[in-house]
Amino acid sequence: MSDQLTKHHPDSPNGCDDVVRNTSGNREFGDVLNVRLSRRNLLKGGFGLAAGSFMSFGLSGCLSSGGSGGSSAFTLGFDAVAKGTADALRIPTGYTATYLYRVGDPINAVTGAYANDGTDLAASFEHRAGDHHDGMAYFGLNAAGLAKDLGNNARGLLCMNHENITQIFLHTVAEVGAGFDKAARVPAQIDKEVNAHGVSVIEVVRNTNFSVNKLSGFNRRYTAASPMEISGPAAGDDLMVTPYSTAGSATRGTLNNCANGVTPWGTYLTCEENWAGYFKRPASSSLGAKAATAQNRYIGSGSSNGSYGWANPAGGDTSGTGLYDRWNITPTGADATADYRNAANTMGWVVEIDPFAPAATPRKRTALGRFGHEGAMPAKAVAGKPIVYYMGDDARGEYIYKYVSTAAWNAADADGGLTAGDKYLDDGKLYVATFAADGSGTWTELNIANPLIAGYAGYTFADQADVLINCRLAADAVGATPMDRPEWTGVHPVTGEIYVTLTNNSDRGKTGTTNGGKSRGLDAANPRYYDDGEGNKGNPNGHIVRIRETGDDHAATAFAWDVYLFGAESDQFGNPSINISGLTDDNDFSSPDGLWFSQAVPGLMWLQTDDGAYTDVTNCMMLAALPGKHGDGAAVDVANLAVPSNGGADQTVTTYAGKDAAPATLRRFLVGPKGCEITGITETPDGKAIFVNIQHPGEDTSAADIGTPANYQSHWPEGGSARPRSTTVVITKDNGGLIGA
Ligand code: FEO
Ligand code: CA
Ligand code: CA
Repeated sequence: MSDQLTKHHPDSPNGCDDVVRNTSGNREFGDVLNVRLSRRNLLKGGFGLAAGSFMSFGLSGCLSSGGSGGSSAFTLGFDAVAKGTADALRIPTGYTATYLYRVGDPINAVTGAYANDGTDLAASFEHRAGDHHDGMAYFGLNAAGLAKDLGNNARGLLCMNHENITQIFLHTVAEVGAGFDKAARVPAQIDKEVNAHGVSVIEVVRNTNFSVNKLSGFNRRYTAASPMEISGPAAGDDLMVTPYSTAGSATRGTLNNCANGVTPWGTYLTCEENWAGYFKRPASSSLGAKAATAQNRYIGSGSSNGSYGWANPAGGDTSGTGLYDRWNITPTGADATADYRNAANTMGWVVEIDPFAPAATPRKRTALGRFGHEGAMPAKAVAGKPIVYYMGDDARGEYIYKYVSTAAWNAADADGGLTAGDKYLDDGKLYVATFAADGSGTWTELNIANPLIAGYAGYTFADQADVLINCRLAADAVGATPMDRPEWTGVHPVTGEIYVTLTNNSDRGKTGTTNGGKSRGLDAANPRYYDDGEGNKGNPNGHIVRIRETGDDHAATAFAWDVYLFGAESDQFGNPSINISGLTDDNDFSSPDGLWFSQAVPGLMWLQTDDGAYTDVTNCMMLAALPGKHGDGAAVDVANLAVPSNGGADQTVTTYAGKDAAPATLRRFLVGPKGCEITGITETPDGKAIFVNIQHPGEDTSAADIGTPANYQSHWPEGGSARPRSTTVVITKDNGGLIGA
């Protein structure tokens, strides 16, 4: 979602993220030439069979190509797409994009086509695509459409997140004209907005192009009202008790589902990011000091109604089930069984959904901690080793985490579904990252047994459940490094190195800004403060940090790091703090967010932007990258000019930059329509089709007189005078080849 830099969504919860790889091993089979030939054959079309056995999960590294570090025999083979602000989706010559799934599209045969004028009823959204498509994953289904077959390129289940809504495009002209009084919302409008959030599971089938199989028994919507189980160490804790579940073992809804993850047992992970702003907060004085501290650390200084006023249906909550009251965390009753004071504790989790078990209730995996979860991307699953996930907490100055399972991976669990999830995701260690100035780093376990946590002056943790529910505070206690808004993570399937996008940070370098007592000064891992001359200060264009675990062991507690790339506008030559990575017109970008490694093409990384700083020149974009490896660059002294937290004086910060980004290793592949963010990507196992989400085209509704379509920022994808729609597109190469080659 967009950053404060954009000034978009003034009334939406979106503002909350601002609160701030050995190689072939085949030499015994032939000489070097033969090795090269076989590799080439793999790339040219032998991938289908091989890829299917480890699609999406990196269960084997056998396709890795040789050479140094992360380099691959694969080369980028398309012409860079130019920057621009046209209201169009632009892709390289030789590729075709088709629209698969737009907001409102029905997922069964009895729900009518989407009117896209605000008249579609709230309940119909239980059977329609939600809004703001985001993280996404493809799971192969067998040819008969009955069971899991992860290698199938022609039939699969596509799981995707619906992060948020563009409110004015969900309701009628008259309703928008009447305004949305947060203190007295029309209940049916709330219901529609709630139902437009969540997750879709849809079956997609390829004939000539992919389409949604509306007759599939797997199709399903999960909304911000759907029943969810609470699982893991925090389940049943006093802090999870609500009138809905006095046992603290269930809740309703998954909310603000941003990026995603997958498991080696074939399930989908959806990650709850900016949930905090939806809640109607109590005044601090009405809480005990401890609860106030916890809520202040997550929800901030408060909102009398919550972002959309969901707690305030006109006439009060007459549902009898607290359907609306659950958005109000003000204590009003005798205890937590009588009001929804704890409801916000049931959001902020990684949630596991088994797309092959549509009747199963999703499980919120509390062992992975509660924060503004961007995504949860796995390290390669290796028999006998723990399952490991890397996770960003997207808000200004928040942290990077990892989860290491107690159980060691056993491939016999590959079809275990949610039961396997119970084994690997409900019992493990949660760590947070500290980045040192010398290029080293530490993972510190967030455990109540750590004296820094047990004795933390800022908050008294009751137990390990409290540590997980309030892990931001525990991370504060151990001195984790505040980062420039950690977004997606990705594990390079060849090098095993971890990449984390840090999208931007308007607070970086400022003075006097606190959040949980954390400084916003400069440090080696967040080394830039500059004024881009267009009203943006701090780190407006973001960067991508790279982590190499000690001994290449994902369970290690120490690592080395460098900065793979710095976002920048390529023409900003005047300021030495900006274009550190040597970006050019073919690959400059701002505000990296989505980051995802192809599993079909080892070493191919896709990078997606959610930007508000370079949008005067270009709409948001997707680039293809072939990253090298940690240490392929050099130490750099960043000459930050006039840094507020340095008393306005210049402040040189030494960091470690990856090698410059030549167009051969970083190239723009796609530019989206006006006002969109590009986020969410997955592929068929053969790498010959990718699915990409175009989120909130026409997001800038500040000038939109809803009755005057000419004023809409975008009409994409339908054109004419249509309302813009978040949309999943499928991109294929006209010659049937690998995407990006
Ligand atoms: Fe939903 Fe941090 O992007
Ligand atoms: Ca974002
Ligand atoms: Ca994002």
